[in-house]
Amino acid sequence: MAIATKTIRRPTQLQLPITPDNAGASVVNRKDTGFSDPNFSSNKTLPIHRWVPWIAGFSSGFVKSALDGFLNKKKGTVLDTFCGVGTTMVESILGGHNAIGFEINPYAALASRVKANAYHIDLNEFTSIVEDFHRFYKKKAASNYEPQSAPPLGFKTRALFYNPLVLHKVLIVQDFVLSIEDNTLRDLFRLAFASTMVSYSNYSYEPSLGRRVSAGREEIHDFPVAKAITDKLNDMAEDITWMQEQMERSNLEAQTINDSFFNCRNHLSPASVDLVITSPPYLNNYHYNRNTRPQLYWLGYAHSPDDLKKLEDMNFGKFWQTVRDLDRLDLSFALPNTDIGERLQTLRTLNNEKGTYGGNGWANYAAAYFNDCHRFAEGIHYVLKRGGTALVVIGNSILQGVMIPTDEYFGKIAESIGLELVKIDIPRATRVGNSIIQSDVRVGKAKSHHQLYEAVVVLKKP
Ligand SMILES: C[S@@+](CC[C@H](N)C(=O)[O-])C[C@H]1O[C@@H](n2cnc3c(N)ncnc32)[C@H](O)[C@@H]1O
Repeated sequence: MAIATKTIRRPTQLQLPITPDNAGASVVNRKDTGFSDPNFSSNKTLPIHRWVPWIAGFSSGFVKSALDGFLNKKKGTVLDTFCGVGTTMVESILGGHNAIGFEINPYAALASRVKANAYHIDLNEFTSIVEDFHRFYKKKAASNYEPQSAPPLGFKTRALFYNPLVLHKVLIVQDFVLSIEDNTLRDLFRLAFASTMVSYSNYSYEPSLGRRVSAGREEIHDFPVAKAITDKLNDMAEDITWMQEQMERSNLEAQTINDSFFNCRNHLSPASVDLVITSPPYLNNYHYNRNTRPQLYWLGYAHSPDDLKKLEDMNFGKFWQTVRDLDRLDLSFALPNTDIGERLQTLRTLNNEKGTYGGNGWANYAAAYFNDCHRFAEGIHYVLKRGGTALVVIGNSILQGVMIPTDEYFGKIAESIGLELVKIDIPRATRVGNSIIQSDVRVGKAKSHHQLYEAVVVLKKP
């Protein structure tokens, strides 16, 4: 089967609000998209969003324009089915809406919960505990203090994660954090530590977590750990003030559910959500759980590889490593009038001489991914009110040189379970993450005529 080449429109800098009315007539719209770029990088400097870096987050501008466009002046309930560090949640609360998010990764869920509820924090109490921290740290660092805390036992790394001088400082910080009685204030400190902890370790994100030396960087023998954490705490204090000034209503609910969206029926009533804004993991095998191992272990969310395995099994789309050795994994649904079956079959026949690295393993991975797309679409149908909209940001993929138009297939899957496919917009034609596919998981080199893009699939519940 010949694989069709797509003409992808160049990314625009458009920041126009999107509205249901400017939805294009044709379903796949690569021309006049009104969406702003959904990429996370612009969040790095914005209040609240800047607290926790996350490899694959949304831009807050994208979420804001979606809220303005689809909820207009009405206040409603917004759901992010895969909420990551809570970009949708924060923007929804700032916009005066109730927010719900599902997230399996406990570290990301912590970030989402703390950020979306930040405006409740008593700033005087927070500032006073930050001062206590300074006094505690200064005193302990100046003496021959033996910290009570210890590194998490189950956290094994090939090289030392922290060199001894850094580790001693980190453990002093842990002792202080453990002494904080108030849960909310303790969580702010835990987040300040977790969001900075890799920056003073011998590891770095490239974008997957790896040894600094493997990326040509020096090991870190000593580091002003308390300063890094204090800088983060100061940013937090500043942003809490900002958020409190922004809030028009204080009786909103932001609920981060640390569970799989596939269990949504255990948590939410049917037809209870006005707008879904979300982005599932892409078909690029990026391993959120493995990449957050330091935070999961040091925050006490993981104690052994089994805990990581549980997250891996719950992850949307599974991972190539978990399905590549299966003989054959098929689609669990039929999708007439599409070439999804043929495309997976083409992939299955490629590079079989590479064994587990060949096409069959990748076809299994893609089939597992689309089976979860089907469950995901069913979940959207369950939670949305009639007339409600879902905006799903999803990237295409290139596996063994075969382009997989995940956006189009997902749109068709959603139609097949009774959602209306309003349109597919492509505001971003070359996305960050190419390197993940090419370096991290050793797939065949992408052919030059295929391009990675990010699409917004707009669905409506009739
Ligand atoms: C593309 S990221 C979303 C990022 C988010 N938009 C943000 O701005 O932070 C996808 C997220 O889905 C989470 N995830 C994976 N499988 C899940 C599942 N079954 N249920 C809920 N969350 C899941 C991952 O841990 C990851 O944080």
